[in-house]
Amino acid sequence: MSDDVEISAPTTDKLSKTGNTMSGAPLIDPQLFDSAEFRKNPYPYYRILRDHYPVYWDKLHNRYLITRYKDVTDAYLDDDSYNTITKGSSNLVNGNTFLELGGREHTRRRKIFGNHLTGKHLEARLPAIRRLALDMLTAAMAPTAQKMLMQEVHHGQVFDLGADFADEFPIRVIGEVLGFPDDARKHFYYWYYTIQQGLKGGDKAKRALVARKELEDYVCDLIVQRREEPTFLYDEDQQVVGSDVISQLVHAKINGVLLSAPEIISMISVLVTGGGDTTRGAILHMWRLLLEHPDQFAAVQDDPELFNSAFHETMRHSSPVGGMSRSTNREITLHGTTIPKGAWVELVNFSANHDESIFPNPDSFNIFRPELYVGKEVQRGFRMDDKYSHVGFGAGSHFCPGAWIAHQETVIASQVILSRFKNPQLLRNSMTLNSEGELEPMYVDRLSEMRELWISYD
Ligand code: HEM
Repeated sequence: MSDDVEISAPTTDKLSKTGNTMSGAPLIDPQLFDSAEFRKNPYPYYRILRDHYPVYWDKLHNRYLITRYKDVTDAYLDDDSYNTITKGSSNLVNGNTFLELGGREHTRRRKIFGNHLTGKHLEARLPAIRRLALDMLTAAMAPTAQKMLMQEVHHGQVFDLGADFADEFPIRVIGEVLGFPDDARKHFYYWYYTIQQGLKGGDKAKRALVARKELEDYVCDLIVQRREEPTFLYDEDQQVVGSDVISQLVHAKINGVLLSAPEIISMISVLVTGGGDTTRGAILHMWRLLLEHPDQFAAVQDDPELFNSAFHETMRHSSPVGGMSRSTNREITLHGTTIPKGAWVELVNFSANHDESIFPNPDSFNIFRPELYVGKEVQRGFRMDDKYSHVGFGAGSHFCPGAWIAHQETVIASQVILSRFKNPQLLRNSMTLNSEGELEPMYVDRLSEMRELWISYD
């Protein structure tokens, strides 16, 4: 990719007010990143950064933003130059985690649970995930006061894919994968939700620490039980496929020493907080985008296997996670800007996924996009034969270990939704729309969030 990019005209009112440089590039005021306008839709601004400031020093927040696809993927794959130490912000609630580690130590710890989220272990869990989706979606059809009110207005059946399903489904899936007993399930969502809220700081962090303590006490008892009596995962023929993740963790050793209770709890906490809101976002974004594109939705209805490419295109078009922080291990000069050693760098997934030099017409949603790679090599940051992976799960050594399970649960749940809810339609008039009359997510704390997704069905 050359530096001679086509320069697009400034696209927003806010920027034209800040003026231009001598060479004609729009000036960016870093207060922009805290503005409501940016939170509503950051994509036009990222385009300006890609075009004019591919490495932007945000003086106000003291960080460098890297926004072009090639630079972002190169950085994800370059553990010598970048490390994940800046992620320490989550430590207050999650404790010391392996996320901030690099090299061999990180790989060893990740391996302890990583293989449980892929391959034959994941395959063996799929029937249970399908059953869970079916049970939860059947319950979602039950009437509530709000639904009855909506039904009167819309003269038909309705449900909110957020509150009635996607808020809780990914957490229930993680509980199942970890091997939490049934009696803990109802507490589990509460613990998850409170810990997740606590990452925002303030009073919420205090409540999160209480919830984490409760989770810790519960898990400590479980550790004792599972050390004596591991629980197993069976396939459909009742053959043992392996033990559940908690049973695996309590028997795992590093340098011949069993993991300590705080280490196990940290890993559980990270898995729980990593897979909830993110997968919720993927489910809601995919359904929003498909229902807004009836021709593509019709194609998926004809061939539900297409949910797989719809998932990848959703992760590119509307990735739930906007980017990741890194710290530089050395001085790096990129596109004429020198980033000092030890600086905070943001690898902006939202922007890389909408880089028009890689994904032409990037703001349009197209599940048949020929250049989007949808195979298994996403982790390597695949770029070959004019095909490119999205970076919604990052790439390289910290690539999301939950990517395959998030993919499978989104696709399975969507196939179940298709079989249960005939003729689904978006209830646009019952949701908050932007000034252009579109349903748009809010970009909060690096996540693109949808609060609700009301759907009518026959
Ligand atoms: C659509 C859903 C998901 C999205 C968009 C997502 C996104 C990401 C991204 C971008 C990273 C890279 C972090 C980095 O490079 O620093 C990551 C890492 C991680 N994710 Fe996910 N994730 C999702 C689902 C899940 C699930 C279901 C789980 C757990 C079962 C999970 C657990 C983790 C963990 C533990 C890490 C840290 C890996 C490491 O640092 O080695 N995620 N995720």
